Amino acid sequence: MCGIIGCVGRGDETLDVLLSGLEGLEYRGYDSAGVALSNGDLSVCKREGEIQRLQRAVATDLGGPVGIGHTRWSTHGPPSDDNAHPHTDCAGDVAVVHNGIVENYADLREDLRAAGHEFESDTDTEVVPHLIEDRLADGATFEEAFRAAVARLEGSYALAAVSKDSEAVLAARNDSPLVVGVGDDAAYLASDVPAFLDYTDRVVYLDDGEFARLESGSWTVSDAEGRLLDKSVSRVAWDAEETAKSGYDHYMLKEIHEQPRALRKCLRGRVDELTGSVEVESLAGLDPESVQFVACGTSYHAALFGARLLRESGVHAQAFLASEYATAPPPISDGGLVVGVTQSGETADTLAALREARRRGVETLAMTNVVGSTAARECDRTLFIRAGPEIGVAATKTFSSQVVAANLLAGVVASGDDAREIVEALRDLPGQVQAILDDTRAAKVAETYVDSEGYFFVGRGHHYPVALEGALKMKEITYKHAEGFPAGELKHGPLALVTDETPVFAVVTGDGPEATKTVGNVKEVEARDAPVVAVTDGASDAGRFADAVLEIPETHPRVAPVLANVQLQLVAYHVAKRLGRSIDKPRNLAKSVTVE
Ligand code: F6R
Repeated sequence: MCGIIGCVGRGDETLDVLLSGLEGLEYRGYDSAGVALSNGDLSVCKREGEIQRLQRAVATDLGGPVGIGHTRWSTHGPPSDDNAHPHTDCAGDVAVVHNGIVENYADLREDLRAAGHEFESDTDTEVVPHLIEDRLADGATFEEAFRAAVARLEGSYALAAVSKDSEAVLAARNDSPLVVGVGDDAAYLASDVPAFLDYTDRVVYLDDGEFARLESGSWTVSDAEGRLLDKSVSRVAWDAEETAKSGYDHYMLKEIHEQPRALRKCLRGRVDELTGSVEVESLAGLDPESVQFVACGTSYHAALFGARLLRESGVHAQAFLASEYATAPPPISDGGLVVGVTQSGETADTLAALREARRRGVETLAMTNVVGSTAARECDRTLFIRAGPEIGVAATKTFSSQVVAANLLAGVVASGDDAREIVEALRDLPGQVQAILDDTRAAKVAETYVDSEGYFFVGRGHHYPVALEGALKMKEITYKHAEGFPAGELKHGPLALVTDETPVFAVVTGDGPEATKTVGNVKEVEARDAPVVAVTDGASDAGRFADAVLEIPETHPRVAPVLANVQLQLVAYHVAKRLGRSIDKPRNLAKSVTVE
């Protein structure tokens, strides 16, 4: 959803720092990329397409010790060189990069046009350098002009600006993430930490309404009135190695393989195998009357799973798509809790739903991967899933960690008779995931069905969210049609679409009544000549009716979805690879969606 970067204090290396930082932010958008550097003159280079095109285009003499950069996910105007950031004023003396949406840009543009400004792009952002130019012409300093421009903006923004004469990068934040990186002699600024993690792990998170000024070896943060703020510097726990591809063809594959480690980290110090108790410091004393989960995409699937776990233990719980939640906020009792499930902690729809809950005085909990994210900072409580950085746009390890974190939440607020068995199953889970990774037929299944017309995924109970997630992964990285359904729902309509060209992936574990019913659904599919792939622990006879079997180890039903999902992640990955898709950066998508 656009990534911005700024750097001061690295002398001749500034351009390299910006370009490598943009690579670390590319998951936020890859429609175009650009940089602006200042050294008494302002030079700008920008290109439609991925960062590699920009890297090839930058002139060797493009330089300057003060710079900003941008990678774009288009909102206003299609991907093109003109619409790429940075945007400049008429004189070409000021350059601006922006993540967010300037909602009143049409009015501002009209005013500026009337005052003689000309525009080169379709973007909302381009008004900002022109607003700055206007104030500079009145004799304002660069900082005064920047602040005056920001004061006229409505909407969301993480903004960074440089001018040809200034030795500083100026920045402002409202509703879009922005973090300062504190180096020894240099200062950095970015939408997200991986952009500068090679250079520093010391960070300062900006809050809404705050401004930053970066100069060589120094930084300040101030409020809208210009009063300096005493911000604390924290250290991020991630290291640069975690954000590198480490020999894997794709980040997605690397992150699928990181799941055993991620799950161990999620559990560390939080469960007691002897007693079956779960203790998470940040959840101490939590005893909600009812729980509403809000989330989007993959995180919504984890939320559906979490709500089910709580309902099983007698807690009134529901999951809502965050983008729908605020349209008619569902009633919630006193003592209720709203849980935002969000990997990034920056998804605008989820933040809006959480803010709606806070507006109504409801306690909020952020279940997130990113310490210092907006969700983590705004919610009353946090439950960090500790999956480590996820760069591939398709969420993989974070879904598994969310499912485990949902088990932890359920263990805290609604522990049942089988608490000990669940904790034991969680303890064994990382090893079982590793066993699947070491010996899976997913690539073979992908090879068999790569040319299929479309794919269906079915599951019942705990596996319903996995069916949805399996389909989402398949469609987002293969660009092929895929749908997930509760297994019992297939016969109420979707069965009409099932043919010998549409494999059906059926997730079935255990041998209880749910499994028996799903096996019945598998037979209905088989009778329509559709190929069936059973993802199963072998406890039922699902495998007997299937054309292919993806085995998973037996475990507790609350943990089995993670295992089934790992197989489906791998199938989607291998289908996409065979089709030559852009696996880590699927078309039209971005990892962190910071607009509603
Ligand atoms: C799919 C995917 C998205 C995200 C969704 C929410 O693979 O990654 O569907 O799950 O955009 O993002 P977060 O979890 O950051 O709120």
